[in-house]
Amino acid sequence: MTALRAVSRRPRIVAGNWKMNRTATEGGALARELAALSAADPAMPAAPVVVLCPSFPLLEAVGRALAGSGMRLGAQNLHAETHGAFTGEVSGAMLAAAGCAWVIVGHSERRQLMGETDAQVAAKLRAAQRDGLVPIVCVGETLAEYQANRTEEVLVRQVTTVWHGLSLEGARGTVVAYEPVWAIGTGKVATPEQARDAHRVIRATLDRVVGGEAGGALVILYGGSVNAGNAASLFAESDVDGALVGGASLEAASFWKIVAAAAAAG
Ligand code: 13P
Repeated sequence: MTALRAVSRRPRIVAGNWKMNRTATEGGALARELAALSAADPAMPAAPVVVLCPSFPLLEAVGRALAGSGMRLGAQNLHAETHGAFTGEVSGAMLAAAGCAWVIVGHSERRQLMGETDAQVAAKLRAAQRDGLVPIVCVGETLAEYQANRTEEVLVRQVTTVWHGLSLEGARGTVVAYEPVWAIGTGKVATPEQARDAHRVIRATLDRVVGGEAGGALVILYGGSVNAGNAASLFAESDVDGALVGGASLEAASFWKIVAAAAAAG
C-alpha cells in the first residue's frame, strides 16, 4: 500500500516566476547557472519538474540556455484569442512557437493590477490548453479577504468559475498555484498548515466541480515568500506538491535549494 502510494504520488513541480525582472542577457546567464546546477545534481532531471517563467523578451535566450537541461520554459501570461487586433498581447501559439510548454495564468498581480476576472482566467486556461501549453492557474485570497476569514469562500468561487465545465482529463492537464496575496513579496509565508488547509479546500472544490478524482489528481503548488529556508517545511505537507517562487527564483543558488528541498521531499 505504501509502495503503491509512493508510485502514484503527484509530480513535484518547482516553478520560478521571474516577474518583470532581468534582461535577455541577464536571464540567459541565470538560466545557464541553473542548467549547470541541474547538470551537477544527481537527483536531476528525474525529479522535480523545474519550470522557468521569464518575461516574453527573455524567452528565446532562456530557452536556448535551458536546452538539454531537462528544465522547462514557461511564460507569465497569454491572451485568450488566437490572433488579431490586440496590441501588446501575446497568443498561446506564439508562446509555443517560442519554445514554451507552460504558462502562468491569473496571477494575482494580473488580477489586481490589470483587473483580470475569474471569467478571463477561465478563458485563458482554455486558450493555453488549445495551444498545447500547461496552464499554472493561480488562485488565492487578498489580505482583506484573509482578515475577514473569507479564504475558503474566495477559493471556492475562483476554482468553481475557472474549472467549471472542464472534463477530468482537461483538468488533469492543469496545475493550480495557491498564492495568498498577503504572502506575495511580503516575507510573510503561510504556515504549512495554512497552505495544507487551503490546498484541501481547492481539492474538495475540484472534486465537486470537475468530478471524478480531480481533487486528488491535480498538482497544487504553494506560492508566496517561498525561500530556501521555508521550502522543506511546506513540502512536508502531503497536499503541497511544489512551489511557485518569485523573489527567490532570481538567484540561482537560492532557487536551487528550493528545487533540492522538493527532490528531498520525495
Ligand atoms: P514571492 O516568492 O516573491 O513572494 O512571489 C510569489 C509569486 O507571486 C510567485 O508567482
